[in-house]
Amino acid sequence: MSDFTSEFWNYYVIGVVLIGIIGCAVFLWSQGAATYTIGKTTGHAWDETLEEFNNPLPKWWSWLFYITVVFALGYLVYFPGLGKFAGIGGWTSVKQWEGEVQAADANPDGPKKYSQMPIPAIAADPEAVETGRRLYMTYCVQCHGPRGEGSRGFPNLTDNDWLYGGEPEQIEETIRDGRNGSMTANDYLGEDTIRDLASYVRSFSQSDVDPASANRGRAAYGREDVICWTCHGRDLKGSLAQGGDYLTLGAPNLTDDVWLYDPSEATVIETITKGRVNQMPTWGKFLGPDKVHLLAGYVYSLSHK
Ligand code: HEC
Ligand code: HEC
Repeated sequence: MSDFTSEFWNYYVIGVVLIGIIGCAVFLWSQGAATYTIGKTTGHAWDETLEEFNNPLPKWWSWLFYITVVFALGYLVYFPGLGKFAGIGGWTSVKQWEGEVQAADANPDGPKKYSQMPIPAIAADPEAVETGRRLYMTYCVQCHGPRGEGSRGFPNLTDNDWLYGGEPEQIEETIRDGRNGSMTANDYLGEDTIRDLASYVRSFSQSDVDPASANRGRAAYGREDVICWTCHGRDLKGSLAQGGDYLTLGAPNLTDDVWLYDPSEATVIETITKGRVNQMPTWGKFLGPDKVHLLAGYVYSLSHK
């Protein structure tokens, strides 16, 4: 396997590397062969009194450098490094990585140990939770935060308020298969209606709402051409509360004070106008069932302390 598209670069790299190493050896040899006048200074002076003697390098010091040259050549024979020459040792980064993954999977205290344990039991087992936390800190932390607190657009996993459900199987399914939250744009409704809808939505949890606008918004929510309810439900309690086919839509409950984005009027108007598309990646293939199961237990523990 090689990334070189022509032989030229292969030989070019080999040339640069070998010339570098041989250059070092020649330089060392020339230093050893030079004549010195021991005890005489070179004539420079720094900081007024700091002078440099013209003494040779100590022998042991030169030998250390010769050893590094020999080591470098031996290394390049054994490991890949000289152009596309693979080295006689057969080492590759992929092989090393696969070996480490296999060792980790075979570890009797790793994720496999918990593959038959029910998710709530994992959440109640401190050792399992700690193993799960380490996986979480590798694969999930960048989006959901170090304590599962989430951030704008990335749901909080600690609050037991769910887009896709908090039952053990639902959490496991979310992690294994991923989720797509998609809200279509509504700019066709016009600015005034959108502002009123935003007021209506915000009136459930915010105090700075104009009641007249919220009332108009409530009327608009029931209109034929306003389709919010097809995802958020007639009661605005979100798709999860509607059950059945709605379960995988991921439309949030709009009546509580839990926000995926923020509750400011500007943001709510932006969401309604332009819609939102959001994705939780799928992990089943990449991590395998044991790790997914353990992570589900860890996520479950975050909201079941
Ligand atoms: C690239 C960012 C990203 C990474 C990495 C990520 N997630 Fe997510 N996750 C999301 C987004 C975005 C959502 C919300 C999807 C939506 O709004 O439709 C989500 C949703 C979830 C949910 C559903 C929450 C609910 O309220 O129903 C769970 C559970 C979850 N993630 C767990 C995890 C775990 C465990 C990992 C690590 C294996 C992980 N996530 C890694 C972005 C990410
Ligand atoms: C096709 C389904 C669908 C329709 C129709 C829909 N929504 Fe949504 N809505 C969603 C989804 C899914 C999300 C979450 C987006 C995400 O995960 O980023 C969302 C998010 C929101 C949010 C942000 C909530 C938060 O926690 O930050 C608001 C506000 C909102 N919708 C209001 C509305 C209003 C008002 C309408 C009607 C004009 C509407 N939605 C129509 C699916 C829909």
